[in-house]
Amino acid sequence: MRFYVITFVFLTISLCHGQNSAPIVPNVDLRKGLSEKIGNFSVELLYHTSNVQAKNSNLIVSPITVWTVLAVTAEGAAGETLNQINNVIRVTMRNRDLVRNEYKSIAQWLQVKTSVVELAKVNAMFVDVGGLPLQDFIDSAKSDFDTDVVPLNFTQSELASELVNRVIANVTHGRIAKLVDSSYFANSRLILTSAVYFKGQWTVPFNASSTTKSPFFSEDGKQIGEVNMMYNRYTYPFANIPEIQSRILELPYGTENRLSMVIMLPHPGVSLEKMFFNFNNFTLDKMFQELKTAREDYGDDEVSCFLPRFKIESNIDLTPILRDRLGIVDLFDSSKARLYRMARMPLYVSKIIHKSEIEVTEKGTTASGVTVADFSNRFGVTTFNANRPFSYMIIEKITNTIVFGGIYQEPSLY
Ligand SMILES: *[C@@H]1O[C@H](CO)[C@@H](O)[C@H](O)[C@H]1NC(C)=O
Ligand SMILES: *[C@@H]1O[C@H](CO)[C@@H](O)[C@H](O)[C@H]1NC(C)=O
Ligand SMILES: *[C@@H]1O[C@H](CO)[C@@H](O)[C@H](O)[C@H]1NC(C)=O
Ligand SMILES: *[C@@H]1O[C@H](CO)[C@@H](O)[C@H](O)[C@H]1NC(C)=O
Ligand SMILES: *[C@@H]1O[C@H](CO)[C@@H](O)[C@H](O)[C@H]1NC(C)=O
Repeated sequence: MRFYVITFVFLTISLCHGQNSAPIVPNVDLRKGLSEKIGNFSVELLYHTSNVQAKNSNLIVSPITVWTVLAVTAEGAAGETLNQINNVIRVTMRNRDLVRNEYKSIAQWLQVKTSVVELAKVNAMFVDVGGLPLQDFIDSAKSDFDTDVVPLNFTQSELASELVNRVIANVTHGRIAKLVDSSYFANSRLILTSAVYFKGQWTVPFNASSTTKSPFFSEDGKQIGEVNMMYNRYTYPFANIPEIQSRILELPYGTENRLSMVIMLPHPGVSLEKMFFNFNNFTLDKMFQELKTAREDYGDDEVSCFLPRFKIESNIDLTPILRDRLGIVDLFDSSKARLYRMARMPLYVSKIIHKSEIEVTEKGTTASGVTVADFSNRFGVTTFNANRPFSYMIIEKITNTIVFGGIYQEPSLY
């Protein structure tokens, strides 16, 4: 039996500290436009990546960086290679200019630096001095996709790898320190990267003295391990979304209410896979709409939130996922790739890899919840207990961009 009780009797005492002073002003054009496209791509990527992973393992990806690399690649692609990429990143020949413009706006919103929240990104293209790409492609990568172009001598592979690693380590504050080694440069002509760094303190930190060792359950209710479960009671925006058979909770970062983690906890007995599948008929925008409504209607209601403290590192070869699951086939095929708008020499993509890591603690960063039974619904408080597999996303709320997304289902006592 699962210890799982929900009550919908809400606390009605107004808590002033629960109200955020500065309401965010959503950018509706972006949310309905490119953000929704990237959002759909993000959910699809998460779904397929988790499917090809070892069963029941945790996952972290940054979908926006994958989207960006594909979008820049598309600028140099033609024919079927281009069609296949566009299809996956939701770009058409007709909306291409609009996408470029909207990307510029999104890129601006993905830069935040306050004392409690930092979000930074760098797109960089490392090119061999022995064979520079075409000027039109360089211009487009720079102006439309905010990509720095760095010429390197690929023959000096040690130096080249050091420099690439230094650029990525710089933006990630050393958390991703070794992206490539010198062997990368043996056959490579060009290396395209997109990196993002996020650090945020919870608006309301968890109290470390409330963290307790607690059981964690599988999707079908068996105890599969233990986690260090953090606990907090706060007026978190919360919604039940029958369309995706899940409940969602928003944990805000910082003081500006611009960045949040959203935890999506499938209903008991519903798998993460089923939840993601439901997105075929549901949009992230609707999900955020529900949270907004919840904020307005039940903004004073407290939620008891149980979330495991966790740390996840993912190192994923995205090539088979993009090729076999999403249908970007020609790009990875040396006989079929058409990238002649990128460079004079024939190019193809040998692999696309992805590394991410996330750390969720009482102070901040990323979160999802788990708990044992003895929360007290005496107070008529809703309990959100992430003590079984859940998905989490870190979103920028002006544009609804998913900066990071992932899955937690393999408990550990982090
Ligand atoms: C790149 O480095 C190699 C080996 O040091 C050197 O022979 C070559 O001239 C360099 N190429 C350029 C364009 O500087
Ligand atoms: C990244 O490089 C810039 C300029 O070289 C420097 O000012 C900054 O402190 C570096 N950031 C980190 C996190 O190392
Ligand atoms: C955390 O909880 C402990 C024990 O309940 C309490 O003494 C302490 O004041 C709390 N700390 C904060 C920062 O709320
Ligand atoms: C995103 O996916 C939803 C659900 O499949 C669909 O209704 C919507 O039109 C898609 N939006 C875009 C921009 O592709
Ligand atoms: C999709 O959602 C709409 C509106 O919520 C619903 O009427 C319809 O039955 C759903 N379709 C499927 C295939 O689930």
